[in-house]
Amino acid sequence: MILVTGASGMVGSHLLDVFSEAELYRTDLHAADQIHALDCRNRDQVMEVIGRVRPHVVLHMGAETDVDRCERDIDHAFRSNALATLNIALACQRFDVTLVYVSTAGVFDGKKPEPYTEFDLPNPVNVYATSKLEGEKFVQSFVPKHYIVRAGWMFGGKGKDKKFVGKIASMCLESGAEIKAVDDKFGCPTYAVDLLAAVKTLIQSDFYGIYHLVNSGSCSRYDVAVEISRFLGKTGRVVPVCSANFPLSAPRPRSEASRPYKFELLGLGRMRTWREALVDYLTAWQAAAAIPASAVAVTASALPPGNGAELWKGDAVAAGGLDKGVFWNPGERRDELEAVKVTPIAPAAAAVV
Ligand SMILES: NC(=O)c1ccc[n+]([C@@H]2O[C@H](COP(=O)([O-])OP(=O)(O)OC[C@H]3O[C@@H](n4cnc5c(N)ncnc54)[C@H](OP(=O)(O)O)[C@@H]3O)[C@@H](O)[C@H]2O)c1
Repeated sequence: MILVTGASGMVGSHLLDVFSEAELYRTDLHAADQIHALDCRNRDQVMEVIGRVRPHVVLHMGAETDVDRCERDIDHAFRSNALATLNIALACQRFDVTLVYVSTAGVFDGKKPEPYTEFDLPNPVNVYATSKLEGEKFVQSFVPKHYIVRAGWMFGGKGKDKKFVGKIASMCLESGAEIKAVDDKFGCPTYAVDLLAAVKTLIQSDFYGIYHLVNSGSCSRYDVAVEISRFLGKTGRVVPVCSANFPLSAPRPRSEASRPYKFELLGLGRMRTWREALVDYLTAWQAAAAIPASAVAVTASALPPGNGAELWKGDAVAAGGLDKGVFWNPGERRDELEAVKVTPIAPAAAAVV
């Protein structure tokens, strides 16, 4: 039995595909269909659930992943990412459970010209990465049987993808406006499916310790956007810009590029290139993002409770509720939304508001 935290998130959405034969106990902050409520910040709750379920492995992915929110709300970041991981680590220690902790390749200061390996020293430059690194230290201190897995720029989530890849893909399918993408920050795209598959290999290996699990090769966000536009047959839309054009609360290191060095040195496998993984994912995304032609005009107040707050201006809304977000204007606030008009749209086409 594998107990998972943060199972409703982007990586969590691929759990059932990768761990199809495993017995899973999925938890997240909020209960959902077959997902149990577990707030990892609550030590009593964590002890009670892990003591009752008695998993062999805990896969801890629950985290505050909004890097800019972490910078603005430091207490929230350390509670959600560091102290919550302490709770998980102490429970795994008490019940002798193997712990897999998903951390970030963003724990480095970005000054190294080459990709980082597991043998480089972390030196985080923002609150999010600092809080994740503190989580790593708790895991190392209290859980002998642990895997710390540092991932790169995550992509995945299929139809629910509102992050970088989903946004750029949606913008490519929109009107012909240019798409600006940053070309002076570097990292390693990481397909959630490949990350989970490598985690599966690791937990059967007993080679405990720290691993960088990223797709091979490094690039800028601009490179990723170009690849997406090429896949969708919309070349020439993406323009490179420097990060100073997008002032954000949290500083980003120049480079988060890393290598799955230890994983490969130990002969545990190879991570395919980010381009190969991206093509696979975009194929799945395209199928999942097909918007029903029955999309109709609705107002925000007509949305079912809970969904209205998630609505972004430009989202596609199908009859009966919120469908896939397919359009995003940087800087728009969700609560500015008064009414949404959605024109009927063909599958895989853009939503226009
Ligand atoms: N996304 C990336 O680019 C990236 C890169 C490297 C590493 N990682 C790490 O990979 C893991 C999975 O990330 P992801 O991309 O799947 O993120 P995600 O989509 O934000 O999912 C994280 C999930 O954790 C939940 N959560 C937040 N606070 C929690 C708490 N106190 N207790 C239990 N659950 C809580 C979130 O719920 P709410 O949505 O309701 O807050 C969300 O469902 C995280 O540990 C993250 O730090 C992510």
